[in-house]
Amino acid sequence: MKKIVVLLSGRGSNLQAILSAKLPCQIVAVISNREDAAGLKIAQAHGISTVVVQHNYYADRASFDAALAKEIDRFTPDVIALTGFMRILTADFVDRYLGKLINIHPSLLPSYTGINTHARVIQDGVKIHGCSVHFVTPTLDAGPIIIQAAVPVLHDDTVETLSCRVLQEEHRIYPQAIHWICREQVWMDAEGRVANNRLEQPGAPLISPGLS
Ligand code: GRF
Repeated sequence: MKKIVVLLSGRGSNLQAILSAKLPCQIVAVISNREDAAGLKIAQAHGISTVVVQHNYYADRASFDAALAKEIDRFTPDVIALTGFMRILTADFVDRYLGKLINIHPSLLPSYTGINTHARVIQDGVKIHGCSVHFVTPTLDAGPIIIQAAVPVLHDDTVETLSCRVLQEEHRIYPQAIHWICREQVWMDAEGRVANNRLEQPGAPLISPGLS
């Protein structure tokens, strides 16, 4: 069974969704850069090992990332899933785990990389928004996309209502992406593209590839 380490900085609703999906994999540890991250409590309630590596104890990104890698490697994971891990990772760190490191981002990439995606979408009058799960590469939010879900932006949306609608879809597509990777149905190939051996490509119009 594939082993997963989850990295998070906050509430952990995606961790909860991954756990609730009862995937054929084992979450072996949850690691946070913040000791007050609510996601750590979710992990503990499920008997999952937790580790805190506080970024402000380290002089620079390189030394923080080295400490983080040391903790991750103790668990020999097959997949490292970022779920709201609010640190920019160095290229050395990303290269070390290339093909194993995945992230969920609250926008339809490659649009709206970075932070405050929902506010920027509303500001721009965009009509369709969503979320993406992608392999992580050294350029922020630019790695190959595994799955996306799209939602409408309603005329009276606020950041709260829109983020809530997107989050519901995050909770569907992140477990699906992890499921595919754990079953070796999706991977990052030598050219840095997403490859898959899933023959079927079902999907409702707003989610592509579709849930299976
Ligand atoms: C999610 O919106 C995710 O897309 C972003 O950070 C948030 C994490 O939420 N990267 P949670 O901690 O999983 O509830």
